[in-house]
Amino acid sequence: MTVSNRRSIHRLSPSSDVSIFSGIAELHKNAISEGYLASFDVDFLAHVYVAISANSDSFCYYVMADDRPIGFIAGSTSSARLMRDFALSARGNVLRALIPALVERFQPVRLLELVRHMLTGGAATSGEILNFAVSRGSERMGIGTELFATAVEEFRDRGSDEIEIVTGDRQLAAQRFYENIGARRTDTLQIHRGVTSLRYIYDIS
Ligand SMILES: CC(C)(COP(=O)(O)OP(=O)(O)OC[C@H]1O[C@@H](n2cnc3c(N)ncnc32)[C@H](O)[C@@H]1OP(=O)(O)O)[C@@H](O)C(=O)NCCC(=O)NCCS
Repeated sequence: MTVSNRRSIHRLSPSSDVSIFSGIAELHKNAISEGYLASFDVDFLAHVYVAISANSDSFCYYVMADDRPIGFIAGSTSSARLMRDFALSARGNVLRALIPALVERFQPVRLLELVRHMLTGGAATSGEILNFAVSRGSERMGIGTELFATAVEEFRDRGSDEIEIVTGDRQLAAQRFYENIGARRTDTLQIHRGVTSLRYIYDIS
């Protein structure tokens, strides 16, 4: 799939090059400061994207330019099953990265809060944006729009009629982006105590 002559869009798969997983993990770490996953290091996040690429309910697309990913979008029709599969397959490097983070005082609470949100949120027919970011310096060039349109097609193919998006109340660029594409802001929620998130719904027509 081609976005422009210089950029191309690809689907992440378990056989993608290891540099792609770490590139996406770095983008995530640099662009998304809020949320539980942002507290983990790039190695751990790379394992999360391996799990997303291998999970049949989930997907990730990324844009390449000059041999590196400069944007990505990850979505799922069942983040609960994704999390369950990730937990069951966690071993070796993943556990080595997870356990030190979990023993820090606040982390188990935040993990439980995230699990509760994933198990209780979303209608049966909805898809969910898991993460979405474009690298600093590549913003406002239409890359986010291309990625989001690709995710909409994927969700449509999977039978979803709406997409749930939860973003931090300080992620102003994301809020402008979702408002620009016509997503409805439905409510605010507190997945983590003291941190406000905004929920948007995008109708797939
Ligand atoms: C949200 C994000 C992915 C958008 O990517 P992008 O490639 O810059 O988006 P686009 O260039 O396709 O922007 C499309 C439109 O969205 C709106 N928009 C995007 N960023 C904006 C900003 N910083 N300020 C105001 N409007 C903005 C504009 O209407 C823009 O159209 P225009 O540039 O023609 O005016 C990017 O800003 C980002 O990575 N943000 C940080 C991570 C994040 O918050 N992710 C969301 C997690 S759910």
